[in-house]
Amino acid sequence: MKEKLQQIVEIGVNEIAAADDLKKLDEIRVKYLGKAGELTQILRGMKDVPAEDRREVGALANTVRESIEKALTEKLCVLENAKLAADMEKERVDITEPSQGVKKGALHPLTRFNNKFMDICVAMGFTVVQGPEVETDYYNFEALNVPKNHPARDMQDTFFITDNILLRSQTSNMQVRCMETMKPPFKIVCPGRVYRNDSDSSHSPIFNQFEALVVDENIGLKDLMLMIKEILKRLFGEDVKMRVRPSYFPFTEPSIEIDATCQMCQGKGCSLCKGSGFSEVFGAGVVNPKVLEMSGIDSTKYSGFAFGPGIDRSVMVTNKIPNIKYLFRNDLRFLKQMR
Ligand code: PHE
Repeated sequence: MKEKLQQIVEIGVNEIAAADDLKKLDEIRVKYLGKAGELTQILRGMKDVPAEDRREVGALANTVRESIEKALTEKLCVLENAKLAADMEKERVDITEPSQGVKKGALHPLTRFNNKFMDICVAMGFTVVQGPEVETDYYNFEALNVPKNHPARDMQDTFFITDNILLRSQTSNMQVRCMETMKPPFKIVCPGRVYRNDSDSSHSPIFNQFEALVVDENIGLKDLMLMIKEILKRLFGEDVKMRVRPSYFPFTEPSIEIDATCQMCQGKGCSLCKGSGFSEVFGAGVVNPKVLEMSGIDSTKYSGFAFGPGIDRSVMVTNKIPNIKYLFRNDLRFLKQMR
């Protein structure tokens, strides 16, 4: 028995020293210390050793087990360190390699134009407001002096959800909502999406307007035109030319249509402006006193003016975008070109 134990230490320790990977080391551990391992068998057989030898053999067996365990632990440590070092070498990152570059995000061209417009208006003292895109017939039409069956409804082919609820066809709904809740004098602008049943390369069922409304004492058409001229200059540059044409909206009286220097050809004349050098940008006018009264504003004391440009056309022209739908598809190939 003693010889056997002696043999186990010698051979075992040598085997452990020779083991060159973790798997082999574990096999050795099982071979000696596992459930059916050589050393385990001997320790289990201690009860058969004659009583007088048991102490001595028992002590020796324990020493042998300790030696084997110690050798295993030390070797395990060596092999694990070696494996870690090898892994680190394999996964080494070359920090001198050029990087893939950080991809920069950018604002959507509509957002950029809107921000520019808002900055101009805020600098002129306007308050920016937001309103519902799902709206009642009252705010979108009736309170703007467009009663049911009024022929002016044909100017805006509207998406109705029920008889009384619709997708707003103009941001002018916010004129009414502000007149109802704000105390004059006030100046508001409302950028927002509007919806009409219209679709070709320059019309989309969704598009964007930028409503502005001023209510104050003693203001009228000349203030409106001066303000628009100033805004156009700040939007398109000092040299911009402006042209005013009479128009019709039920909620403004008089109503006008503003044209500005075509931004595609800078006024030289092109296919977009049909050679005129001008493109249509604004519907505008002096608020119809009837509309003020309907929203509870005293029209003998206060007057107002409003304008509501669609901004998609300007964004298309300034960015040379051939189809309005590109603005809403969120195709990354398109957006990347707009940075
Ligand atoms: N809401 C009108 C439209 O969509 C534009 C407009 C706004 C006209 C404000 C006059 C005053 O056509």
